[in-house]
Amino acid sequence: MNEKISTDKKNSIGTKFYPVYHAAPPVGWMNDPNGFCFFNGEYHLFYQHHPYSAEWGPMHWGHMTSKNLFEWKHLPIAIAPDRFYDKDGCFSGSAIEKDGQLYLMYTGHVIPNVFRKKIHLQTQCIARSSDGINFEKFSGNPVIGNPGDHRASKYDFRDPKVWEHDGKFYAVVGSKIEEEDIGQILLFESEDLEHWNFKSIAAKATENLGYMWECPNFATIDGKEILILSPQGIEQEGIVYQNVYQSGYMVGNLNYETGIFTHEDFHLLDYGSDFYAPQITQTPDGRTILIGWLDMWYEKMPEQEDGWAGMMTVPRELRLKNGKIFSVPAKELEGLRKEKISYEKLSLTEPTKLEKISGDIGELIVDVNTGKTPAFGIELRVGEKEKTIIEYAGAEKILILNRKRSGKGPGDTREVELNPGENLTLRIYLDKSSVEIFINDGEAVMSSRIYPDESSRDIIFVPWGNSFEINSVTFYSF
Ligand code: FRU
Repeated sequence: MNEKISTDKKNSIGTKFYPVYHAAPPVGWMNDPNGFCFFNGEYHLFYQHHPYSAEWGPMHWGHMTSKNLFEWKHLPIAIAPDRFYDKDGCFSGSAIEKDGQLYLMYTGHVIPNVFRKKIHLQTQCIARSSDGINFEKFSGNPVIGNPGDHRASKYDFRDPKVWEHDGKFYAVVGSKIEEEDIGQILLFESEDLEHWNFKSIAAKATENLGYMWECPNFATIDGKEILILSPQGIEQEGIVYQNVYQSGYMVGNLNYETGIFTHEDFHLLDYGSDFYAPQITQTPDGRTILIGWLDMWYEKMPEQEDGWAGMMTVPRELRLKNGKIFSVPAKELEGLRKEKISYEKLSLTEPTKLEKISGDIGELIVDVNTGKTPAFGIELRVGEKEKTIIEYAGAEKILILNRKRSGKGPGDTREVELNPGENLTLRIYLDKSSVEIFINDGEAVMSSRIYPDESSRDIIFVPWGNSFEINSVTFYSF
């Protein structure tokens, strides 16, 4: 299996859409990040992986490590679907260190041969490792064989996130109420990671919050608890929830006695077209870092023609301000910066290219005086026939990411409503086939894949009112 990967490696890394500083599979398919953690002095990122083709298939856990969160080293596949309890896939899950060993907790996905219909069963399993590279599945798997609550689905029961609290282990698992199609999160507890008891239904969907909650994550940020989840089945509401599935969070409080998570409203973590199933981990210096899948289910993925599919977002640091999560690029990414070009106080009255600001990778920071600029466009990856446009409509206080003419791949727009002050700051990360926009110090983020021609590299600032007033523009080449 790993030989196959090393032979094919040459075929995908470095192909035209392959990212330079984002995590992506050396070959084959990638979806959710899994087991994101810091172990033995480096970050480990596992991921849903099908190494044999650029399509989703029986899931393995791919594995890579990094010291700086932007240079990733590919390691052998950590776990493969090779047991009776995970024969059709090692689905998503998380990692935790115990007694110097790294434990992976994942979902065993099985389509029992005796079932006439293609119905699957899902259980929770563990694997462990002393060196963080070679993993051994536990002989007592599955460690959680059924969902505990009789109304919870046995079929949709997946993606455990494990953590330790006051000397005990806890895991939240994605679930739904089978008969009613209502998403929910189940909580389990354990003394040793091997024996688990059902504790509670920690939270469940109300109104338009979906029929299935996937990929829960739980963390304490700035003294508050948050539950991150990826609901399926939320209906579009105006400009919000336009993607097929959503990822967001709820701030709240987990009562460890009752197992109930009381919480506030659900908010999205990203407003672009491609963001799903994020995972968080703590850095040794106490920051919370998130990485998500920078793709969306059932979308066209032009990189498949080069033998790979799927990539991760840049790592983002989460902070809580006024009860809301702000996401900013992890400070480690500053290590990517090479040449710096800056302009101050520009008053543009016609579409303008700025000398030395162009390229297909890099970081662009634009600080706009929105008080004096009613509307503007920033065109990225501009070529003869294509461009990706960031559009700002001051009257509606809306920022739009328009990839209708971005090149190959899906063409659509995504919008986010802002709370603008006098100024609007956009921090934009470009890689070969992606754009991520961090708005106003992380008030909102928009992430999308784009597939322009390699030669489409211009950046153009377009005034749509009488002038485009820019306080400053900085471009860092990578
Ligand atoms: C989310 C998800 C998870 C599942 C995995 C399978 O994208 O559907 O719920 O574990 O992908 O690849």
